[in-house]
Amino acid sequence: MTPDRDLAVLSRVRLRRIDAADAPAIFTVYSHEEGTRFLARPPMVDPVQADEMVARIEAGYADGSTLQLAIERNSDAAFLGVCLLFNMVARGARAEIGYILGREHWGQGYVSEALPALITHAFGALGLNRLEADIDPRNVASQRVLERLGFRREGLLRERWIVRGEKSDSAIYGLLRSDWT
Ligand SMILES: CC(C)(COP(=O)(O)OP(=O)(O)OC[C@H]1O[C@@H](n2cnc3c(N)ncnc32)[C@H](O)[C@@H]1OP(=O)(O)O)[C@@H](O)C(=O)NCCC(=O)NCCS
Repeated sequence: MTPDRDLAVLSRVRLRRIDAADAPAIFTVYSHEEGTRFLARPPMVDPVQADEMVARIEAGYADGSTLQLAIERNSDAAFLGVCLLFNMVARGARAEIGYILGREHWGQGYVSEALPALITHAFGALGLNRLEADIDPRNVASQRVLERLGFRREGLLRERWIVRGEKSDSAIYGLLRSDWT
């Protein structure tokens, strides 16, 4: 089901639906070498990849398999980044959470402001019971974001990803609805 345009309007940012007009901003975020350093996919190299991502995001709205939202700054409508729920498993009432900011927007706490609204939606309207995050253990900023939200580190999966020939481990974090409420 296509979500309302705004999922949440917070003090500095809003979480809103993504559409085709966002493709250039998505390309900027996902093609940045440092900004995508710890993602399980290589940086985008062609703007067409952003168009394809928007198509997948819209398909996710339609079939409910993923929920991917723009983090937009209220003051100037700048596209700061993306937060998402994916790998939703209905029978387990669980999903994975992910997030990325454009490199120039790091260090201002925007993701920490945005994620509680997404988590509240996941445990509320979506009826989920568990959220997971799979992060590269070297990604200290991401680790700090999760820990501040109450996620617990539950395990380490060795050499779980190979991106551009580089093997990386996964630190698995979990947050239960009962942890959140
Ligand atoms: C992960 C990410 C969203 C964090 O967003 P951010 O707005 O820059 O985060 P913050 O400024 O709130 O920083 C989070 C914490 O990490 C700390 N931190 C940031 N970079 C750090 C580094 N290189 N080493 C150690 N600590 C670091 C900050 O000091 C802050 O600490 P605090 O909680 O004690 O204040 C952002 O870095 C990003 O988009 N990274 C690329 C995408 C990504 O890796 N996503 C996660 C994988 S799903």
